[in-house]
Amino acid sequence: MTLTVAVDGPAASGKGTISKAVAAHFGFAHLDTGLLYRAVGAQMLLGKDPLIVAQTLQAEDIDPGALRNSEVAQAASKVAAIPEVRAALLDFQRAFARRAGGAVLDGRDIGTVICPEADVKLYVTASDEVRAERRFLELANKGQDVTRDGVLDDLRARDKRDSERASAPLKPAEDATIIDTSDLSIDDAVARVVSQIEMAQSD
Ligand code: DC
Repeated sequence: MTLTVAVDGPAASGKGTISKAVAAHFGFAHLDTGLLYRAVGAQMLLGKDPLIVAQTLQAEDIDPGALRNSEVAQAASKVAAIPEVRAALLDFQRAFARRAGGAVLDGRDIGTVICPEADVKLYVTASDEVRAERRFLELANKGQDVTRDGVLDDLRARDKRDSERASAPLKPAEDATIIDTSDLSIDDAVARVVSQIEMAQSD
């Protein structure tokens, strides 16, 4: 059985948390595709050529803990605007999506470019203020030196770059279900997605 779930949305919309929970519920594999771009962005900050990094990236070498900070997030958004970098990461993502047993991929262009044939497509969003508050708490709880205004500015700058780039911009697929988590608990959002996947499985 292969069943692909594509989850897109802006930064801190809840898409990662929902994707992880849904994958665990069904026993599907989960790929946070943002980590691929973050890994390339982090190496660019160290002076490496992003294209060479993307072409030689080994998924098992990625250390998520080292990549979840604002500086790497902005660098990820910058390298993600380079079409050749995106092309270098395409095959790995498509192969992951087709793996036996089901797969959930979350990112910005999963339903539009990586897996336009996905069985279930979601676009998870929330207001700027709700997303910034979530990200602020996440980073502050890790002891990072952040302010609410700084996090909001960072998110907006990143969303603008991600939505306005020419190559695979952030946008909902035409057939995506929109889930606004501004006033929805994660449990309710997960329950909604679980029932949508169950319907796709019975088709
Ligand atoms: O999901 P994230 O915040 O970890 O993603 C970091 C950056 O990577 C994001 O600002 C844009 C880029 N990205 C992308 O262009 N396409 C994806 N499928 C995933 C992430």
